[in-house]
Amino acid sequence: MENNFDVIIIGSGPGGYVCAIKSAQLGLKTACVEVEKTLGGTCLNVGCIPSKSLLNSSEMYHKAHKEFGNLGIETGNLKLNLSKMMNNKNKSVATLTKGIEFLFKKNKITSLKGKGLITAKDTVTVIDNSNKKTEYKTKNIVIATGSVSSSLPGIKIDEKIVVSSTGAISFKEVPKNLVVIGGGYIGLELSSVWKRLGSNVVVIEYLDHIIPGMDKDISNEFQKILSKQGINFKLGSKVTKVKIIKNIAVVEFKNNKNSTIEKIECDKVLMAVGRKPNVGEDISGLGIKLDNQKKIKVNSKFQTSVKNIYAIGDVIDKGPMLAHKAEDEGIAVAEIISNQAGHVNYDVIPAVIYTSPEVATVGKNEEQLKKENIKYKVGKFPFLANSRAKVNNETDGFVKVIADEKTDKVLGVSIISAVAGTLIAELALAMEFGASSEDIARTCHAHPTHSEAVKEAAMAVEKRPIHF
Ligand code: NAI
Repeated sequence: MENNFDVIIIGSGPGGYVCAIKSAQLGLKTACVEVEKTLGGTCLNVGCIPSKSLLNSSEMYHKAHKEFGNLGIETGNLKLNLSKMMNNKNKSVATLTKGIEFLFKKNKITSLKGKGLITAKDTVTVIDNSNKKTEYKTKNIVIATGSVSSSLPGIKIDEKIVVSSTGAISFKEVPKNLVVIGGGYIGLELSSVWKRLGSNVVVIEYLDHIIPGMDKDISNEFQKILSKQGINFKLGSKVTKVKIIKNIAVVEFKNNKNSTIEKIECDKVLMAVGRKPNVGEDISGLGIKLDNQKKIKVNSKFQTSVKNIYAIGDVIDKGPMLAHKAEDEGIAVAEIISNQAGHVNYDVIPAVIYTSPEVATVGKNEEQLKKENIKYKVGKFPFLANSRAKVNNETDGFVKVIADEKTDKVLGVSIISAVAGTLIAELALAMEFGASSEDIARTCHAHPTHSEAVKEAAMAVEKRPIHF
């Protein structure tokens, strides 16, 4: 009886642990298996949370160093204590992972420690760290095993010189020269951290622009801002080799247009060329189908090709690899297993890059709409004309609202701003409610706040902003 569950969730990242809590709240007898020592998965332990701690601390250091003086705050001799900064990060992570343990206890979720393998449609076998195997029977299984860092052919991540994001959030010293391979989310957030703490940073990106898939306006402006901050970019360049010679890495890359080969020497290389689904060998025998990127295929109810085995998060063939998308899927799956109507709206999933300024988007961008032949109108408003941004010296960036040409329904919004990640929530909500740009323009926004720029951009859709 004790080893019998309604649902066993494999993986305790934002997808898995949220699914476990929701399942338990809905009255299901729930267990969650985790192979790592602490709960929370990549996001809490080595991803979103520790990187945001370092982004916050390094931004404060940078501001104290470069901006406080102008505000009349004299700091004297400012010194970086990297190990203390890392300890602060580790403390935050520990508090948050313990928070999940508490929530598991509160919701009477059984926490199973070890590697979870699906050994039959109704059986999860957990192998603990002393190699002891225990079988658990369950009516439903949810695979929430997340993703792992990808590398490039022939380049090995050793987590010493060539590191993944895991290594790059734990450097013992500030690298003098850091080469970042990949101008995506991870590459740019961690470039910002180490640039602010004193590294020379070069980002090598295969495409001719940073942040693939993002509105071109945003990507161009964002690159300009990051370049102004001192991050160097080599775009349209394919990294082909990384050689290690006496603790120095030599990164070789080829220009896509003229095929010239360049080399850069550095003391650390961050590999940030994407992540791949973490799919175990165990599921192949069960007939669970994968797509050509090795992601688990699921239907609209998150069922894999085996009806009572569900999958959510980075491991599935739907939506972006983002923690909040996985959380929403976790809730939806718990509801579906409980015979309720669980649903995720993939058209309204915000995405945020936590640099300074932040970049945030929701919905479609111009390039996507052009491809889909949808006629649209655009309203843009710069933070240079927003009073709060002005007094805070945060004038970089703009809000761009895209609405349907005929119906005025908001189709997408992109923002570069000090607080873009916070502002985007309003737009996600507006889009969920099917708002028009006029709805946003007629909503009273507090003064003086950055959010007035959202209202102004909505007004600009009809070419009638007030302050620009
Ligand atoms: P990414 O997919 O965002 O960016 C990878 C970049 O590497 C792309 O721009 C790609 O063109 C480039 N690239 C690929 N091969 C290359 C080569 N040979 N030479 C040079 N460049 C090359 O992947 P990233 O940054 O590793 O992030 C992984 C995942 O983690 C993403 O799916 C992202 O959604 C998620 N994430 C989200 C964060 C957030 O929400 N703030 C923060 C960090 C990660």
